[in-house]
Amino acid sequence: MANNMRYFIGNWKMFGVPKSINILNKINTFTKFNKRFNKNYKIIITPPFTLIESFAKRFKKKNILIGSQNCYHKDSFGSNTGSVSPFMLKKIGASYVIIGHSDNRAEGDTAKMLKNKVIGSLNNNLKIVFCIGENKKEKEKKLTYKVLKSQLTKVLEKKFNYNNIIIAYEPIWSIGTGKIPKSEDLKKISKFIKNILKGIFKTKKPPKVLYGGSVDGSNIASFKSLKEIDGFLIGGASKSSKKFIDIIKNYYR
Ligand code: PGA
Repeated sequence: MANNMRYFIGNWKMFGVPKSINILNKINTFTKFNKRFNKNYKIIITPPFTLIESFAKRFKKKNILIGSQNCYHKDSFGSNTGSVSPFMLKKIGASYVIIGHSDNRAEGDTAKMLKNKVIGSLNNNLKIVFCIGENKKEKEKKLTYKVLKSQLTKVLEKKFNYNNIIIAYEPIWSIGTGKIPKSEDLKKISKFIKNILKGIFKTKKPPKVLYGGSVDGSNIASFKSLKEIDGFLIGGASKSSKKFIDIIKNYYR
């Protein structure tokens, strides 16, 4: 049932110490007792750099994959103080990397840097979660479609292996605010994104499109009917095993 595959990706942001592995232990126990779901969803947790290696080791053959929240825009090794390259992430067991989160765009990530991050990550066989989204002002000015198109076309290219790319639509006004888009808007936007992707990659089977922004156990049910949404990028609610498990439970209930 590959088509019904759903992603639940936890973005911990600047959170977590070694003992936070208990959160993953609990999520892993939940997945073991819910085998009937296992074919239908994938769980990926992106802790900070400091925890990737130990978490990836612990969950190597388990139902949880480990990713990174970011990577540097140059690959391999270099004189770039404080930076971590896609090559280094792959070597410590990361299998996914989030690129273009609005937090990083706000801190100066340009389209050119993001493109280099994508290239470096694909070269190292990392799967990419590429984030796009409009801010409040852009939404009010009805620029959402224009912004999304530009964010996609400035970074993604036909030559990229799109099987290793997932898109996360995260409207900035919804991140951490408790606000989520109206279902009909989200439906239209995700169709629009998929059409743009079909054009970029010249394919009828474009990359998956996830939604992110204030997803939690109480609003997840409202996304159930949206076939166009292939999963969720979850921030705040991914830092608690109970909240994260509630999202999955309520999605399939
Ligand atoms: P949120 O964050 O779920 O806390 O809104 C989502 C994200 O920033 O990826």
